[in-house]
Amino acid sequence: MNTYTANESRYEKMQYRRCGKSGILLPLLSLGLWHNFGNNANQDNARRLLRAGFDNGITHFDLANNYGPPYGSAERNFGKIFAEDFKQYRDELIISTKAGWDMWPGPYGNFGSRKYLIASLDQSLKRMGLDYVDIFYHHRPDPDTPLEETMGALDQIVRQGKALYVGISQYPAKDTTRAAKILRAQGTPFIIHQPRYNMMDRWVENGLMNTLEHEGIGSIVFSPLEQGILTSKYLDGIPEDSRAATEGTYLDKTQITPKVVEQIQELNKLAEKREQSLAQMAVSWLLKDTRVTSVLVGVSKVSQLEDNINALHNLEFSSEELKTIDRILGF
Ligand SMILES: NC(=O)c1ccc[n+]([C@@H]2O[C@H](COP(=O)([O-])OP(=O)(O)OC[C@H]3O[C@@H](n4cnc5c(N)ncnc54)[C@H](OP(=O)(O)O)[C@@H]3O)[C@@H](O)[C@H]2O)c1
Repeated sequence: MNTYTANESRYEKMQYRRCGKSGILLPLLSLGLWHNFGNNANQDNARRLLRAGFDNGITHFDLANNYGPPYGSAERNFGKIFAEDFKQYRDELIISTKAGWDMWPGPYGNFGSRKYLIASLDQSLKRMGLDYVDIFYHHRPDPDTPLEETMGALDQIVRQGKALYVGISQYPAKDTTRAAKILRAQGTPFIIHQPRYNMMDRWVENGLMNTLEHEGIGSIVFSPLEQGILTSKYLDGIPEDSRAATEGTYLDKTQITPKVVEQIQELNKLAEKREQSLAQMAVSWLLKDTRVTSVLVGVSKVSQLEDNINALHNLEFSSEELKTIDRILGF
């Protein structure tokens, strides 16, 4: 029986940006399921996160074949919650998944072959209980598979009706231009790029953002809070329930160096002057560039999601504030 009814004013709570030159609008904040949705996660909390997101107008949930742990479990757990809570809202949701990193043993469960991408999406759809995803990504560049083959697989997936749009993730500017050319020639709806971008990691400013603008492709940026470093979480030590303190994550305690702590303490002072939390300032900093279609956050608690959403009340920065951020972070 259905027990969830979405908040009726959800669309008044969120703002949306057009994804490149496509017909799709994405919420300024999207929710990623990399962490906190695997079999190691509390499933009641996972449900609360998805509901809180949608109730606040977050219409986009981002997955990948290997999110978990174990691999595939985030999709499976999402599928269960989707069937119970969100099926009725399917047409209000943009659901994405990806393939490109290691997923199953042997030579066909990794990188960018036609064989891998097509089999992987079939598996993802089964796990999530979906007929199609809205966006399917190639998760990372493959130096050995011809780009024509990988892009051809993305095209085939769309023509089979298994994805409405395609994207790429982590591709540098040059490969993005090549991919766009191949996909355009095939008539494949390539609308989005998913790069890593935050105040501390600015590689996209070295050409990728210009390329995306030129190609009319949107961007959804991941690890916007540097996995939690750009929040108030690590200002005074490493909390036990944090990602840095959890085994098997990609954030290690050794990354919270005295220099980083000094930087975030200074950034936090600036955020306070702006009447924002540090997390909010980090989100706002990304959204000041309108070429960023959506900021893809991860959260372990509903309170974090609400904190991040409140960033949308102040997306303006003075040039003094921007200079201060650059100085603190050494840019
Ligand atoms: N395409 C790719 O290759 C790729 C790679 C990585 C991620 N992604 C996508 O991007 C999404 C987001 O990545 P991410 O999880 O690294 O992003 P992130 O937003 O930089 O970090 C998320 C973590 O920050 C902490 N946090 C978030 N909001 C907070 C707040 N307001 N106050 C205090 N702490 C807060 C939480 O950590 P605690 O757990 O410590 O509470 C949370 O799990 C993923 O879920 C995935 O969908 C894509």
